[in-house]
Amino acid sequence: MLYDALTKIINGMTGGPTMTPKQVCVVGTGYVGSVTGAVLAELGHRVICVDSNPEKVRQFTNGPPFPLLEPGLDELIVRHRGRTLTFTADLATAIAASEVIFVCVSTPTKLAGLARGSFDMTYVDLVAREIAKHARGHVVVVEKSTVPLRTAERITEILESNMNGSGATFHVVSNPEFLAEGTAVRDALEPDRVLIGTKPGDDFARRVMDELYAYYPREVTLHTNVWSSELAKLANNAFLSTKITQINAIASLCDASSADVTEVGRAVGMDKRIGNKFLGAGIGWGGSCFGKDVRALIYLLRNHHLEAEAHFYEAAHDLNYALRERFVMKMHQSLYSLRGKTVAVLGFAFKPDTDDVRDSPAIDIIRMLAEEGASVRVVDPAAGHKVKEFFPDGNAPAERIVVVKDALSALTGADALCLCTEWKEFRHLDMREVAKRMNKPGWVFDGRNIYDPQAVVAANLCHYGVGRGVRRP
Ligand code: UDX
Repeated sequence: MLYDALTKIINGMTGGPTMTPKQVCVVGTGYVGSVTGAVLAELGHRVICVDSNPEKVRQFTNGPPFPLLEPGLDELIVRHRGRTLTFTADLATAIAASEVIFVCVSTPTKLAGLARGSFDMTYVDLVAREIAKHARGHVVVVEKSTVPLRTAERITEILESNMNGSGATFHVVSNPEFLAEGTAVRDALEPDRVLIGTKPGDDFARRVMDELYAYYPREVTLHTNVWSSELAKLANNAFLSTKITQINAIASLCDASSADVTEVGRAVGMDKRIGNKFLGAGIGWGGSCFGKDVRALIYLLRNHHLEAEAHFYEAAHDLNYALRERFVMKMHQSLYSLRGKTVAVLGFAFKPDTDDVRDSPAIDIIRMLAEEGASVRVVDPAAGHKVKEFFPDGNAPAERIVVVKDALSALTGADALCLCTEWKEFRHLDMREVAKRMNKPGWVFDGRNIYDPQAVVAANLCHYGVGRGVRRP
């Protein structure tokens, strides 16, 4: 491959690591594992991806369609599958054949008990025990899933106490992912940073990881101790999520005054110290990471008796979820009541370009709308088929929730447009056509501030944008 050759030349000139193909095992083929496996194959390594669910293995082996939607992933899998990329449910054989093992299994949030809010490590522990039993020689075990602090010690302990005389030597490394869904493949190929946390003095692990990632420019590679690396992942998501929550707090003040949050955000974002990303106000963040990681951080702080710090993140967390109800309240007030009204909800995924609906604000918003007596029509280009998983037929208030194929059909005879996910096809709606189809006075509730309020009002529709106030024709 061209970049392998280039990397060799550049690193050869700079004295950096050279690309040496490694035999890699990736355990868990969720978003993180499947992208990690496919990208490592793209970087020239031989990769075995393992999942305990045989149906997923079958889909990855025979698809597309694959079990998840991630732009660019299909192409990578198809390019390397059957040659340097294979999928299997046989964990033991994959472990025995590998020199680097990535742990990418899920670490769900514990919902009950004393450790409520912390990560459930059942799957990580299970994989560690299997590695202990089946690994051979010097093996680097990489924590890729988001894990609590000091997981490296936990994994090391499990590895050492479950060894069965194979004589393997283990090197536990933290190498967290910072992939955002929808751009995960690009993020993995052009990362802001490659963070490698090793235990002090573990030069072997450091060298193997450098060789594994020789493709990346040296300036993006950051070596830290293993604990800093584990914490950096949580800190990263805490910074990003609280930045969004900060602009949303300002948006609430904008709603109470005549300021426009998009203008305030632009002004603030021009300060290079703050930067203009993650300043999009609206119905707040969702997804599989932010909520989970902020809750884990709160748990961790409390565990260390850092009550004031825990309060800080708890307040940001709670405000984020309050935004969902506030948005529905705005609809309720503007329409005088939601009872008997028809609302077209545009978007069900937690963000565009993914079919992932975990912690999607749309779920709570749809539930509240239906509970308030509205008829809800939901449209999503990729995740529409998941609506009924959350609102199964036969269970109240599911009878008032239907899935509709396209936005214009959903809007025909509707009282309100409720934008939850900023998919491209929703951005370019012809507002005059929308106005023609909706009941009068038609309302546009823009939960992601994608519409130009003037254009909406010019089409004879009422407009509310979060932090932009209400405008009428
Ligand atoms: C996030 C992190 O970005 C990624 O580094 C980490 O590894 C996993 O968590 P992801 O959850 O895929 O990635 O999506 P992201 O693009 O960060 O968006 C998260 C949520 O924030 C979405 O619901 C999005 O709509 C919302 N968001 C994002 C805003 O409300 N405003 C913004 O300005 C940006």
